[in-house]
Amino acid sequence: MAETDFDVIIIGSGPGGYVAAIRAAQLGLKTACVESRETLGGTCLNVGCIPSKALLHASELYEEAHSGMLAKWGVKTSGLELDLGAMHGTRLEAIKGLTGGIEFLFKKNKITWLKGHAKFTAKDAIEVAGTSYKAKNFVIATGSSVTPLPGVEVDHQRIVDSTSALELAKVPETMVVIGGGVIGLELGSVWRRLGAKVTVVEYLDQILPGMDGEVRKEAAKLFKKQGFALRTSTKVTGAKAGADSVTLTVEPAAGGASETIEAEVVLVSIGRRPNTEGLQLDKAGLAVNQRGQIETDHEFRTPVPGIWAIGDVIPGPMLAHKAEDEGIAVAENIAGLTGIVNHEVIPSVVYTMPEIAGVGLTEEDAKAAGHEVKTGKFPMMANSRAKTNREGDGFVKVIADARTDRVLGVWIIASVGGTMIAQAAQAMEFGATSEDIAYTCHAHPTHSEALKEAAMAVTGKPIHV
Ligand code: FAD
Ligand code: NAI
Repeated sequence: MAETDFDVIIIGSGPGGYVAAIRAAQLGLKTACVESRETLGGTCLNVGCIPSKALLHASELYEEAHSGMLAKWGVKTSGLELDLGAMHGTRLEAIKGLTGGIEFLFKKNKITWLKGHAKFTAKDAIEVAGTSYKAKNFVIATGSSVTPLPGVEVDHQRIVDSTSALELAKVPETMVVIGGGVIGLELGSVWRRLGAKVTVVEYLDQILPGMDGEVRKEAAKLFKKQGFALRTSTKVTGAKAGADSVTLTVEPAAGGASETIEAEVVLVSIGRRPNTEGLQLDKAGLAVNQRGQIETDHEFRTPVPGIWAIGDVIPGPMLAHKAEDEGIAVAENIAGLTGIVNHEVIPSVVYTMPEIAGVGLTEEDAKAAGHEVKTGKFPMMANSRAKTNREGDGFVKVIADARTDRVLGVWIIASVGGTMIAQAAQAMEFGATSEDIAYTCHAHPTHSEALKEAAMAVTGKPIHV
């Protein structure tokens, strides 16, 4: 095989692409991965999951110390100061360590990193930095980027997107977040904890679309208690950036009188869109759907034989772990094995405090799908560990089919909800009933006991409420 010929070339090295590359190489395929960024790891490691979680962790520590929460535990602080530079330093260290780790794994697995932007020149060929490469299989894993909002141009100074919001050199006094989704609430939490007065402007009548209705209501209540101002059913119609602040024009989503809001910094976080620009998909005989996504079958094949696609660029939730699982599955399918992802059981987590996590159907979706449902709820305040840790906000909700008792969905608001949801996902993957969870012995004292009790509550038998 020529040096420029491969069994598989993966375009994009995010959690979808790099995982696909590693699995393909493990399965004995001659593998290359194209990445136009200077470091591997995609959105997730460079400007997404990892840096946002670094700042969420750091800002949580600061808030705990600053608000006197630590003093309640007998940990007294004095001369407390915020060193934002050091916080950013630790964030950058995390990115460097993890992206370097992927580079190490590429070398270890003998994966060729083709540096530059890939574009198709034919069904079986791409060009990267002036060189042509051929492969028996291509995997498009080009991910997604920020959806722009017409009339609100991101300048990365006053009007920022999720990337520039991670890099603010100073804590703004006021911040408006456009979009009450995952990014707005996570990054809004970071800057609120560090001292900004944060207003969330959301087009819909509630924040966190797609989540269970009761969870959305509880989340809004808790965020307000934390000091967020929530302006739901409101749309932004324009923005004017001045030297020190931005003037936003907003009006009711249903139409009506407009008003202005001033903020030192505005974060645009109204969603993400698939990256296909410059790929020359037409040269490969491929087209995108109305939402700009590349459609695939259940095995991640596009309509063009030999071209596959995974991750944020295809339909489905835009989540790193969904992309990773698809990366493993696509490599196994290319190698002639059977790679499967169960899209019914993909957990999602918002890493605020408390964390908000869910897997499977919401109560509303379960009913709309024709299920008669039984639900069980257990408050974190009645969980001994959470209460002791002063983490009593939130609840666990189990949604089961009333006829079969099979668990259809689990929704959690709890300080460690993101960790707790893994157990629910595993139970659902095994087709568990609420009774299966209720009769599984859970270690005491753990937050996870709340899931057991919520499962017990499906049949009305929790112990601690
Ligand atoms: P990406 O990670 O977007 O990677 C695609 C890569 O392809 C990019 O590096 C890009 O440079 C490269 N590329 C694109 N086109 C080309 C081309 N033509 N040639 C060469 N290279 C190309 N998800 C979670 O599950 N948990 C979280 O906590 C979380 N936090 C997030 C926080 C933020 C602020 C953001 C923005 C996103 C977050 N996400 C989170 C979403 C997550 O980052 C994405 O779902 C995930 O990265 C998608 O993986 P991917 O492999 O499909 O694409
Ligand atoms: P999102 O889809 O989560 O939220 C966008 C919000 O903006 C929605 O509530 C929507 O109704 C609102 N909106 C849309 N247009 C609007 C307008 N003109 N004015 C006011 N509100 C408007 O998108 P977000 O937060 O940008 O995140 C993008 C993706 O990144 C998500 O799909 C998510 O999957 C992923 N992500 C995941 C994280 C996690 O798993 N913890 C963290 C961050 C991002």
